[in-house]
Amino acid sequence: MRVVVLSGGSGTGIGFETAVSLCSSGARVILVCRNATRAQAAVAQIQQRTRYGSIEYVLGDLESVESVHHVARAIRERTQRVNVLVHNAGILYFGADELCANGVERALAVNHIGPLLLNKLVAPLLLRSARENGAARIVHVSSSAHHKGAWRLGAHCNPQQIRNMTQTPTPKYKNPIKRWLFNGYWRYADSKLFQLMSAIAFQESLSGKDAERIRTVCVHPGLVRSEIFDKIALMQPVLHLFPWLYISPRQAAEYVSAACISDDTSVLPSSQMRWTYLVRDKVSQVAACVRDPVRRQAVYHGSLQLVEHLGTK
Ligand SMILES: NC(=O)c1ccc[n+]([C@@H]2O[C@H](COP(=O)([O-])OP(=O)(O)OC[C@H]3O[C@@H](n4cnc5c(N)ncnc54)[C@H](OP(=O)(O)O)[C@@H]3O)[C@@H](O)[C@H]2O)c1
Repeated sequence: MRVVVLSGGSGTGIGFETAVSLCSSGARVILVCRNATRAQAAVAQIQQRTRYGSIEYVLGDLESVESVHHVARAIRERTQRVNVLVHNAGILYFGADELCANGVERALAVNHIGPLLLNKLVAPLLLRSARENGAARIVHVSSSAHHKGAWRLGAHCNPQQIRNMTQTPTPKYKNPIKRWLFNGYWRYADSKLFQLMSAIAFQESLSGKDAERIRTVCVHPGLVRSEIFDKIALMQPVLHLFPWLYISPRQAAEYVSAACISDDTSVLPSSQMRWTYLVRDKVSQVAACVRDPVRRQAVYHGSLQLVEHLGTK
């Protein structure tokens, strides 16, 4: 039975529908959720909607390094191997910068730092599975918003710079209202940029047979009508007036599930390619900054050092 670890999945969004789809394909899905009540509700609904596979959850909050370590321990207690790791959980907030208890900007913590650590801690289980079965996959639910992310960190990108991202201003709108309106979106875009750069850098850090057996697929599923926009009051009229702009979480989940399990050449166009960036089901170009190997490595190693620093506090 294919074992899938998927972050998020509580609620009604892309993760939840992806879990339904993967369970229906016969997989054992382990959700990583921060809220026990929502996680239990999701598990009950998924069990109702599919007769195949199996579904369970572990509790953990991606905002906290300690909690991510706890999640990894809980996963190791449940399984010896992981075939697919799906980084789905994510946030977008509105207005002024929000900080986590550890001082890291919230979108960066949930969309990039938490997943980076989870990836590192679950990697041995993925590698075991890849060595036994010949393949394992890491899927990031990415976003085309990464194209709007901006490199404002100079050449070296040390952990302090990443931690103090909020001291690097988002684009300098002179109008303070405009700055406030778009601040959350720019933070989201930066976090998705770093997530994508680090995803590729992790893949590049693998060597020999491991590099051949593990594939990283980053997928932008399209604009999806989900709870992620609930906090963005301005989006509500847009969602109602232009419903054709958005696809449903169920449609989005088709793309994410395909990224997880399909061997279709649209997902993995060539056996030589170790990572792919898809927009829905089409291979697409990543932002210029992501294509720069020096910056990719800088973000990846700088972020890993930051994780270490946060973990030792
Ligand atoms: N919607 C779009 O248009 C769109 C487009 C491109 C990419 N994406 C990406 O798709 C992914 C899923 O988003 P969605 O649209 O399905 O939104 P969603 O319905 O709001 O789902 C987000 C999920 O992330 C979980 N989560 C949030 N913060 C967390 C934390 N600190 N620790 C653990 N889990 C946390 C949420 O858990 P709770 O249930 O506890 O809140 C929820 O299950 C995100 O990575 C997003 O960036 C979305």
